Amino acid sequence: MPVVATTPFSDQKPGTSGLRKKVVVFQQPHYVENFLQSIFDSLDGREGQTLVIGGDGRFHNREVIQIAIRMAAANGFGRVIVGRGGLLSTPAASNLIRKTKSFGGVILSASHNPGGPDGDFGVKYNAGNGGPAPESLTDRIFARTREISSYRIEDAPDCDLDRVGSAACGAMKCEIVDPVADYQALMEKLFDFDAIAALFKSGFTIRFDGMSAITGPYAHAILEKALGAGAGSVINGTPLPDFGGHHPDPNLVHAKDLFDLMMSDKAPDFGAASDGDGDRNLIIGRGQFVTPSDSVAMLAANAHLAPAYAGGIAGVARSMPTSAAADRVAQKLGVKCYETPTGWKFFGTLLDAGLATICGEESAGTGSNHVREKDGLWAVLLWLNIIAKRRQSVKDIVAEHWRTYGRNYYSRHDYEEIDSDAASRLMQALRDRLPRLKGDALAGKTVANADDFAYLDPVDGSEAKAQGVRILFEDGSRIVYRLSGTGTVGATLRIYVERYEPDPTRQFLETQQALADLIKAASDVADVAKRTGRNAPSVIT
Ligand code: G1P
Ligand code: ZN
Repeated sequence: MPVVATTPFSDQKPGTSGLRKKVVVFQQPHYVENFLQSIFDSLDGREGQTLVIGGDGRFHNREVIQIAIRMAAANGFGRVIVGRGGLLSTPAASNLIRKTKSFGGVILSASHNPGGPDGDFGVKYNAGNGGPAPESLTDRIFARTREISSYRIEDAPDCDLDRVGSAACGAMKCEIVDPVADYQALMEKLFDFDAIAALFKSGFTIRFDGMSAITGPYAHAILEKALGAGAGSVINGTPLPDFGGHHPDPNLVHAKDLFDLMMSDKAPDFGAASDGDGDRNLIIGRGQFVTPSDSVAMLAANAHLAPAYAGGIAGVARSMPTSAAADRVAQKLGVKCYETPTGWKFFGTLLDAGLATICGEESAGTGSNHVREKDGLWAVLLWLNIIAKRRQSVKDIVAEHWRTYGRNYYSRHDYEEIDSDAASRLMQALRDRLPRLKGDALAGKTVANADDFAYLDPVDGSEAKAQGVRILFEDGSRIVYRLSGTGTVGATLRIYVERYEPDPTRQFLETQQALADLIKAASDVADVAKRTGRNAPSVIT
């Protein structure tokens, strides 16, 4: 079997979601092969094992799927399971790894980043629990990328990715499977499909925007076919290599059409969207956007209405920058709420240990112990299950939740593609200032504490430091600063602002207005305009 000589690339450090770069970077000779070989070299005991392979269908997906199959064969795997067409949503890949007791999986995706020849591509490895590789493994992979001198690739013809069935690649078995079937079976187990079908039958309407990305086929099969939402409920339901030229990020900027529809008098009862690889979600009721932070809290509070969670939940977990709305629900339920660093992998140990059942991030990721990734369609189905049981509109459910628990006004301001050095200096200046912030008055509030978030994993004892600068106020308000770990150009500064409002008569202000003082303080304290040259954020969510 051919062994190809190569030299290391210096930039192959996997971030929170694997290695993400521009397509042209991945198209360099040996680039993707080097990274895949570094992954395989880091996996002890892979001999004869099964590997799941799939991607979100973006430009360059098919080429890399074929390379991954041939390299898996040359690296001693016994079998690969590949989604038909090289497609698998991230949560479906996680499910498949778990269900087939595979050794792990290679997922090709740059999530919500744009695709096409000028867009982004990405490769990540998920372990046998179905979740993103832990830091110890990504560190090992990175170390390997710096010393690699050759890679192994089977000299075999391309696999026919479009026909479900079994074939061979060298001595390895190559199974092409329906990307939707196993995932759909899991959803049918978790949720009350009869109740949701009855809801649709009673005239309930939905608009699901697949954003020309991976969830289209899943949404067509589950929402339209299995649950009987009317034909045409799913739009942009065919995965395209360039996502139709759109940015497949289901937020209020990139899913503005859906948002506008939901706020208009033509709005269906429920609007939702998912991102490039199907792990994020956007939930909008008629006339009511649900922030991702609120969504985690509301799903946790109502999860018992779905069969899978009828016995109650063990705990809730949220990433540090996510609002504290979920904490209040956990408190009322008498379960623990874990606060983890940004990135889904930190939920994995909690889920594996049975400490948490529902997890979520402010960045539109919500999920549970059913897989080890966040799951866009899962969130949509849990919302539908809750609505089917409560027989209330999203708007009423949200209002009732705030009345009961109070409202956490919340917003994130992103400064994208800023100069990397300027961004690092801005963060350093904040860190230097931390000891002096305590007791200061900002935005008419007193700073109770300020720190750089560090996390000690309660299960495996691993530590994560410097995960974001937090300014915590006496009234529970917070300002958080961190640099994105997923961007591909320059740096992205994220500023998260939150204020708690217990008074039901003050819970219906416009979010940016409700947070205006804190937003101004956040940008003043960090000297954002001077240090980044930007007077306004590029994206507000
Ligand atoms: C972003 C989100 C984070 C999420 C990650 C992967 O990371 O903020 O919550 O886990 O994408 O989807 P960031 O760019 O902030 O590092
Ligand atoms: Zn994603």
